Amino acid sequence: MSRRNLTFVCQNCGAVYGRWQGKCDACGEWNTMSEEGGETGVGARPVGPGRPPRKGRSFPLEPLAGTTHEAPRLPTGIAEFDRVTGGGFVRGSVLLLGGDPGIGKSTLLIQAVAALARLGHRAVFISGEEAVAQVRLRAERLGLGGAKVELAAETSVEDIVATLSEGATPRLVIIDSIQTMWTDAVEAAPGTVTQVRGSAQALIRFAKRCGAAVILVGHVTKDGQIAGPRVVEHMVDAVLSFEGEGSHQFRILRAVKNRFGPTDEIGVFEMTGLGLREVTNPSELFLSERDLGSPGTAVFAGIEGTRPLLVEIQALVAPTSLGTPRRAVVGWDTSRLSMVLAVLQAHCGINLGGHDVYLNVAGGLRIVEPAADLAAAAALVSSLAQAPLPADAVYFGEVSLSGAVRPVAQAAARLKEAQKLGFARAVMPDAARAEAGETALALTSVAMLADLVAGIAATGKKAGGRQHRDDREDG
Ligand code: TYD
Ligand code: MG
Repeated sequence: MSRRNLTFVCQNCGAVYGRWQGKCDACGEWNTMSEEGGETGVGARPVGPGRPPRKGRSFPLEPLAGTTHEAPRLPTGIAEFDRVTGGGFVRGSVLLLGGDPGIGKSTLLIQAVAALARLGHRAVFISGEEAVAQVRLRAERLGLGGAKVELAAETSVEDIVATLSEGATPRLVIIDSIQTMWTDAVEAAPGTVTQVRGSAQALIRFAKRCGAAVILVGHVTKDGQIAGPRVVEHMVDAVLSFEGEGSHQFRILRAVKNRFGPTDEIGVFEMTGLGLREVTNPSELFLSERDLGSPGTAVFAGIEGTRPLLVEIQALVAPTSLGTPRRAVVGWDTSRLSMVLAVLQAHCGINLGGHDVYLNVAGGLRIVEPAADLAAAAALVSSLAQAPLPADAVYFGEVSLSGAVRPVAQAAARLKEAQKLGFARAVMPDAARAEAGETALALTSVAMLADLVAGIAATGKKAGGRQHRDDREDG
């Protein structure tokens, strides 16, 4: 009579099927189906015919205009971390920290947990990956040996919850990592989507019940997804991602989702021999290795969240030997590059169909702002014309498909940061001029991308230069 409840779960996206199939209809991946029994989560198991539906319990409904206390925050004192969480951890909230292996997730969290312990809060670090001795050794090397952090190497969620429920409620619990955890409530091998989801569910329930903030560490696969638990991203209150280039010391903490704070702030760290160091003035860092006077580089005056950030954009345009020229981008959007190239061709008479194009944002930063269009275009044209851009100029502005340079938000903040770092001029949208306010910078405003291109090309030829001079007089 009792049929075993077998379901097949896609290990990529977590979609549930009643029978095996080669391709997941939900995410389109092949060979990701795995057989799993028992609890498979919401919607996995229809209510059997023998089981009467449970009678619901009534609960009080509340008016929207009630009194709600501001979510109590628990700041770590690590300013770059607190900025990204929105001012500290919220009680009873669960946060997922994703990142490539070896990027420094464990290092960041042991520093955060030690900082809280130093402030007198009960803070617990549960490692499912490293032995207690390893964690302790690292903490000692980072000079955190004196902090009263409670440490354990455990992987059973039931044991962890039972242990943490004893005594005073911990304020912060680190689970490193969610992929190593397993719960008895599900019959599936550790590391499968079902186990990861089941463990996360149990830990979330624990956090909500006792009010502790819980941080789950999640590994990221090659293509940048948090491995397995895509589903976990929807269950937690905030998802942070820790990014960086292997060859650079800079690490960037970014909120991908945040129920209690902003998602556009970034925290910048530097990995040193003594752990992660906060970088309070990232512009200085991103501009520290500038290659002055060579063609193909432009400084972009950007905004990340509430903070202005200057960063160098490097371009290389070279004749191609391939049938289809290469377009390689690091730190920027490939489709955005295609758009800028198309505008350059359609409105400025610059055809790069026979050239390979490489674009790189220095320092391992990833830019998402459209305001970077103008700086990218300047770098591209500068490389093509072999004309170095002035070393003391910053660029910002969005380029529209019509070839016009459109205004962007917070022009004044961008100019202020540029001035602070010793820049003398700014090339910006004509329409943003009114917004710029008082500034000591010489402003060159461009209305059409073609104006900028003509100016750069003119300096390249070192002749004529009429258009460019006109522009400067304008500013
Ligand atoms: P780790 O925090 O273990 O990474 P994750 O938990 O994300 O896998 O960081 C490991 C890397 O960080 C390793 O390559 C060594 C480097 N590191 C330093 O450069 N300095 C340090 O003080 C520490 C602790 C690690
Ligand atoms: Mg680790």
